[in-house]
Amino acid sequence: MSLSYVVNPGFSLTGEIRVPGDKSISHRSIILGCLASGTTEVVNLLESEDVLATVRSMRELGIRIEMPIEGVVHIYGEGFKGLKPSNKPLDMGNSGTSMRLLSGVLAGQNFDSHLIGDNSLMARPMGRIIHPLNSMGAALSGKQGDYPPICIKGNRELIGIRYEMPVASAQVKSALLLAGLYVDGEITVIEPSPTRDHTERMLEGFGYSIRRKKNSISLRGGGYLKGHRIEVPGDLSSAAFFLVGASITPGSDILLQHVGINPTRIGILKILELMGADFQIVNSREMSGEPVADIRVRYAKLSGIEIPESLVPLAIDEFPAIFIAAACAEGPTKLSGAAELRVKESDRISCMAAGLDTLGVKNKVKDDGIIVSGGGIKGGNVNSFGDHRIAMAFAIAGLVATDPIEISNCENVATSFPDFFEVAAGIGLDITQRL
Ligand code: S3P
Repeated sequence: MSLSYVVNPGFSLTGEIRVPGDKSISHRSIILGCLASGTTEVVNLLESEDVLATVRSMRELGIRIEMPIEGVVHIYGEGFKGLKPSNKPLDMGNSGTSMRLLSGVLAGQNFDSHLIGDNSLMARPMGRIIHPLNSMGAALSGKQGDYPPICIKGNRELIGIRYEMPVASAQVKSALLLAGLYVDGEITVIEPSPTRDHTERMLEGFGYSIRRKKNSISLRGGGYLKGHRIEVPGDLSSAAFFLVGASITPGSDILLQHVGINPTRIGILKILELMGADFQIVNSREMSGEPVADIRVRYAKLSGIEIPESLVPLAIDEFPAIFIAAACAEGPTKLSGAAELRVKESDRISCMAAGLDTLGVKNKVKDDGIIVSGGGIKGGNVNSFGDHRIAMAFAIAGLVATDPIEISNCENVATSFPDFFEVAAGIGLDITQRL
């Protein structure tokens, strides 16, 4: 069944909201909690389809996980060697993070595993984890070398390597660090530019010793993770839609509470600041090793910019929302060095360009980016192509369009933000759902 959103223009965003828990941190809390010894408690876990794919898989692998009782998830970790073989393929749904991170863990087990996903995930490149994991002595194979399903042969002795990542990817880095827990020796991963460091922070939170230098992370295998309590901050990637929505809509004034502002995630804030957005970060604090704050956002006139390439990995999931900000800005916004956008849940350059075309926003697609001409958005029917972030970005565009925007194929919004409709409607978005 296909879910559509219809958004009517003419309203502003006002009020205070809490966006749901951070998706990247939620995945990692489940995975590390399962590999830890003793109980891990997780508060504010994101209960979205993607995270539930990780939960389901870890349960298939024999770990007991109790979903929230009074807001707290309990994970009864069995230690590094406590996983058991699954008697069926592990289905990762739409979730690249589940597939890539769990491949790292499963590469170190003494049993075989088989990983599958939905049509979008089955078309995403996995060579980026398969090749380095195999160079550690693991035995992974994919379809045509690079694609899921992934078959992982167990009972391999993993050895430490020093790996220079060709692409800036936190999923690749994390897969290798997780496999590194099982190596005899030390693994070092070198990043071409910084990517989200939640795995590193959380390993330290579980008491695991890692070494971080400027652009490298090293750890030795064979240690021990100690179960503990984790509080998951709100997801800046979900907050991004409201940051942009309030910034582009006259009369808007919102407070986003308890949002993660890890420096490796705040590319969206830096980009919006360069565009002239009006926001303040207040009440900064630290929670479970992650910086958290409230963000007040008000309408401001935005200007088009050339997005610094160094900010691309730090805003990698926010470009659908950023393109909407660009469409409302004065003058063009230019993005380069963002070819990774083509291998997300959809090809986010061409799928966003298709919707922008429909809504009368002039744009020029490049291999590694796009130029979006500012100047306003018309109404019309656009397709999210089953990509959650594209669906939410066009919903926000509806705030300022000249006519209503209808977005089709929105069911995958549940992969990252199951309550998007309610939260958005609660602060003034005139949105209806159609089945
Ligand atoms: C993620 C890393 C990023 C991001 C994804 C979540 C993670 O992917 O796009 O949504 O949790 O590590 P890449 O590693 O492919 O850049």
